[in-house]
Amino acid sequence: MAEKPKTKRSLARLRQEYSQAGLLEPEMAATPFDQFDRWFEDASEAGLLEVNSMSLATCSPVGLPSVRTVLLKGYSEKGFDFYTNYESRKGRDLEHLPRAAALFFWKELERQIVLHGIVEKVHRDETEDYFQQRPYGARIGAWVSNQSQEIPNREWLEERDQEFRAKYPEKEPVPAPPHWGGYRLIPLDFEFWQGRPNRLHDRIEYSRPTKVSEDWTMRRLSP
Ligand SMILES: Cc1cc2nc3c(=O)[nH]c(=O)nc-3n(C[C@H](O)[C@H](O)[C@H](O)COP(=O)(O)O)c2cc1C
Repeated sequence: MAEKPKTKRSLARLRQEYSQAGLLEPEMAATPFDQFDRWFEDASEAGLLEVNSMSLATCSPVGLPSVRTVLLKGYSEKGFDFYTNYESRKGRDLEHLPRAAALFFWKELERQIVLHGIVEKVHRDETEDYFQQRPYGARIGAWVSNQSQEIPNREWLEERDQEFRAKYPEKEPVPAPPHWGGYRLIPLDFEFWQGRPNRLHDRIEYSRPTKVSEDWTMRRLSP
């Protein structure tokens, strides 16, 4: 009898020691937005690929979490903006439960940042503004993709792409699809993680009671 194929790989020996830097309370910025900005600047200067990509976790109405990568398209003290299809899986999750977590892992700097908070749609004017800054192919792509829906095959997608290119020629304005736009994650807490030797990592968390509060509490968490 043929043996059943088995896949098994132990990764117990894969491990990395972290020793580049430390994180001490007196050096932390007064607000987590400023701290985020410092680290984002460091990551950008280090030339990391897709430095603005983040893992975004949402939760379904039955409590099933899901996660995917999205691109951060701007941040300020108002929140962290990303753009997507409002009818996608994440869009449906956020419609029901406007809460999310976002995670940046900049492994070359041995750093991780995690945020949790409340999600709101960005104002339609801001979505329209950003949409018009996207390259033509990406503007058309927003019309082509019924994001997260099942489709028959690759050809279906390419035919739809041609249809929308014909409908909205390159030299003419492409409107933003009504089902596409921005979300803003308004953080209630941020955690800054710096890898240290022997798994004694630094973790500093900032949290606040409400999305409008400027009263951030800082504490150190055990690694
Ligand atoms: C590097 C990278 C960047 C991405 N950026 C976005 C983005 O900004 N917006 C988006 O809707 N999907 C983006 N995606 C695709 C998502 O990860 C995901 O496949 C899609 O949004 C559907 O997710 P959902 O079915 O969970 O809603 C990106 C994927 C990768 C790998």
